[in-house]
Amino acid sequence: MATNITWHPSLSRSERFSLRSQRGFTIWFTGLSASGKSTVATALEQHLLHLGLSAYRLDGDNVRFGLNKDLGFSEADRNENIRRIAEVAKLFSDSATVALTSFISPYKKDREVARKLHEEDKEGKIDFIEVYVEVPIEVAEQRDPKGLYKKARAGEIKEFTGISAPYEAPDAPEVTIRTDKESVEECVRKIVDYLHQKGLVE
Ligand code: PPS
Repeated sequence: MATNITWHPSLSRSERFSLRSQRGFTIWFTGLSASGKSTVATALEQHLLHLGLSAYRLDGDNVRFGLNKDLGFSEADRNENIRRIAEVAKLFSDSATVALTSFISPYKKDREVARKLHEEDKEGKIDFIEVYVEVPIEVAEQRDPKGLYKKARAGEIKEFTGISAPYEAPDAPEVTIRTDKESVEECVRKIVDYLHQKGLVE
């Protein structure tokens, strides 16, 4: 950590939320590759934008083209990937935007770090909604839209989640969706119902 740095006070979050007439919060999707995280998160982003809310999705593949292009898929790199994403999501939330993140985020401890960063902020709790996109690995592997499972089985990709690297499912996610049993619309509805119930959207 750098020394000789000072935290600058800015507008209070409550003032910002009030001036924008919107609360910011983070919806954190987690699940295997090809589980449907990005598809559902994109549909939800669109739904929230139609409601007139400010919303923005951070995507696993996309962020790795820019901000996190120095990171690979070792455990340490995934830890750092998620740490940075959590910080960015919190900045979006703090700016009165709904941040949607669709990353495998395979390690419980990393998701816990992301949650704590939001919930234990010094200016007060920022809502953090973990959405588990649950599908059996067989289903994800059968979908294999990018041909990555095939390559992983052939040993061409090392440390592939679910094949040669772990995926730790959440114990108590706020919402669980099953993209092999529910349509994209049903998944979005389920999340939106939860947001209504918590008073996060009207
Ligand atoms: S992580 O684990 O959260 O840091 O991963 P993430 O940033 O979400 O990136 C996942 C996407 O990267 C592609 N990819 C891999 N995934 C898992 N394991 C390995 N080894 C790997 N190599 C490349 C893959 O396209 C993932 O995208 P999704 O959308 O999840 O399928």
